[in-house]
Amino acid sequence: MDTFDLTRLLPADHFSTALRHDVQTGLTSEPKRLPPKWFYDARGSELFEEITRLPEYYPTRAERAILTARAGEIAAVTRARTLVELGSGSSEKTRLLLDALRALGTLETYVPVDVSESALTGAGAAIAAEYPGLGVHGVLADFTTRLGLPPEGGPRLVAFLGGTLGNLLPRERAEFLRGLRAALDPGDFLLLGTDLVKDPEVLVAAYDDSAGVTAEFNRNVLNVLNRELGADFDPTAFEHVALWDAEQEWIEMRLRSLRSQTVKIPALDLPVHFDRDEELRTEVSAKFRRERVAEELLAAGLRMTHWWTDREARFGLSLSAPA
Ligand code: SAH
Ligand code: AVI
Repeated sequence: MDTFDLTRLLPADHFSTALRHDVQTGLTSEPKRLPPKWFYDARGSELFEEITRLPEYYPTRAERAILTARAGEIAAVTRARTLVELGSGSSEKTRLLLDALRALGTLETYVPVDVSESALTGAGAAIAAEYPGLGVHGVLADFTTRLGLPPEGGPRLVAFLGGTLGNLLPRERAEFLRGLRAALDPGDFLLLGTDLVKDPEVLVAAYDDSAGVTAEFNRNVLNVLNRELGADFDPTAFEHVALWDAEQEWIEMRLRSLRSQTVKIPALDLPVHFDRDEELRTEVSAKFRRERVAEELLAAGLRMTHWWTDREARFGLSLSAPA
């Protein structure tokens, strides 16, 4: 029997209350901004999967290469009984970890945690079918407010792949890592994927692909606001922008208004004016260096025990344990 079940830790009014709050705060700020978690409705999750297959978007392939080479070692070091994955999405690369942990014979349970219900149920059901005997317990949660870690089943390996940590702002990142450390017990590990600083041309191309998939992903957040809050954004009136901030060492995605326009958001009773060329920041994607990853982990009480990169040093994967 395949076993897949889903626990909902998102409040029933998540898409009204939390989204309203973020839109109210972000679109009345100067400059305007939105948190990237709102990209991931069913369409946004599909578009992200399309991004991972683009020739310009190297992070998925680079991280997969590291996992292919190192999954056996990760399994041997962690001997995990439970694999928890934050922001699991399609759980595609995760299969490498599941295979290695199953081969070792320690793994009993996989717990994918994601804010996207369609991605979570699709991936969870597929994995339950592919791995007979594995308990698959999906958790629908926003990991910035609830981590969704099962309290039992140690040793636990918490995987946070894809570079999604870089989508949090530095202060959010520190708070997230501290919260994660507090939830870990001795013997648990964190497996963290971080994209690395590199040639800005390579970075910008990864976020501004020639097929325009990332542009569609970026604009999709406006469709989410239209559907959930009754807003009347015209996504075609906004242009996709990706730029490298050399000081912060992050990529920023923005939507630039192609004309002067006022958008109505009835759920908030809020008219939002955009000047022509005014930009709305929709995502930061921080790029790291090994030292910075180690420092941020240590500041949260985590000691890096292993660090691996792909052959071209485009992406870093680290293993850390409670210090
Ligand atoms: N780990 C996968 C997917 C990365 S895409 C990979 O490496 O390819 C980022 C994933 O994180 C998406 O599935 C998105 O729905 C999820 N996500 C983004 N913000 C989140 C949040 N605050 N809480 C939970 N999941 C989140
Ligand atoms: C999920 N996250 C790590 C992706 C990134 O690269 O920052 C999201 C993404 N944004 C644009 N392309 C991909």
